[in-house]
Amino acid sequence: EIHRASTTAPVNIAVIKYWGKRDPKLNLPTNSSLSVTLSQSDLRTHTTASCSPSYPSSDSLLLNGSPQDVTGARTQACFRELRALRSALEAANPSLPKLSSMPLKIVSENNFPTAAGLASSAAGFAALVRAIANLYELPASPTELSRIARQGSGSACRSLFGGYVGWEQGSQADGSDSVAFQVAPASHWPEMRALILVVSAAKKGVSSTTGMQTTVATSSLFTSRATETVPRRMLEMQKAIQEKDFEGFGKVTMMDSNSFHATCLDTYPPIFYLNDVSRAAIKTVECINAATGKIVAAYTFDAGPNAVIYYLEENEKAVVGVFKAMIGGKDGWKGARGEKVEGNKE
Ligand code: DP6
Repeated sequence: EIHRASTTAPVNIAVIKYWGKRDPKLNLPTNSSLSVTLSQSDLRTHTTASCSPSYPSSDSLLLNGSPQDVTGARTQACFRELRALRSALEAANPSLPKLSSMPLKIVSENNFPTAAGLASSAAGFAALVRAIANLYELPASPTELSRIARQGSGSACRSLFGGYVGWEQGSQADGSDSVAFQVAPASHWPEMRALILVVSAAKKGVSSTTGMQTTVATSSLFTSRATETVPRRMLEMQKAIQEKDFEGFGKVTMMDSNSFHATCLDTYPPIFYLNDVSRAAIKTVECINAATGKIVAAYTFDAGPNAVIYYLEENEKAVVGVFKAMIGGKDGWKGARGEKVEGNKE
């Protein structure tokens, strides 16, 4: 007999970036962060978790058809936490099948390039954790699942919620208070759009895990970012979202992306995620905003050259029109896709 459950989890793109760990084992961050969960139509991971006494004795994970190593500490931490919750359930209800002692088989499909700076680990671990939680019929809340997914990949904790999502850095050594929370549902500000500009679908140079460790160890800008700049901007950003103030939202988004990439440059040896094409996008956004006389578009970049441009539906022509005209041209954009903000999945 095979027990099975499936789920999908969407990508999230941070407007206040997570960069730096105070505990690399538990992925406990040095600052809180905030993101927007994108629509599941294009950018999502679909995952099926199954278990059976007849499976080969070890756990397995297939991503886009290729077998992945599941012995890594991050995947193991997620499996261990979820199994512990299931065993507690089985101990309380002896009639339940003993799923916690059966090998797990996880099958995941991304419908976007893996490790291209498109937050694939976020959707990946969020889907893995929820699929197993569904398989085990755990009564766990999205908050509790976010605590587990965070151990797979920090940013994954934010993909357990829809809409506008914060991740509280927390102060406990065991990470129990380092969880995601919803700032506002997607329905609060449904006009929000994200345009994703793909420069390169190639695997990124310096992984975020390695990059942020080197930044923490060497950058002198990093401390003021983590202790002063981000705490202030977390408050400004939540206020902008509550008030649906796009100018405030856009300005903080762009300034935080710039601050994050400045600490990357301030890392030794320096880390460059932006390239000439990324910088052309920044210039273009500045031109659009200058021509409009207010902020109607806001760029942000993760650990790679691909741009995400946030804008409101009413400004679609002014923003997307300009970028669409650049696709395939000398500036080097290979493709673009528009995304809406996603609501809660549960
Ligand atoms: C730049 O969540 O991929 O996208 O916890 O080591 O897996 P690990 O890092 P990861 O880092 C994401 C960094 C970022 C900013 C963000 O999403 O907040």
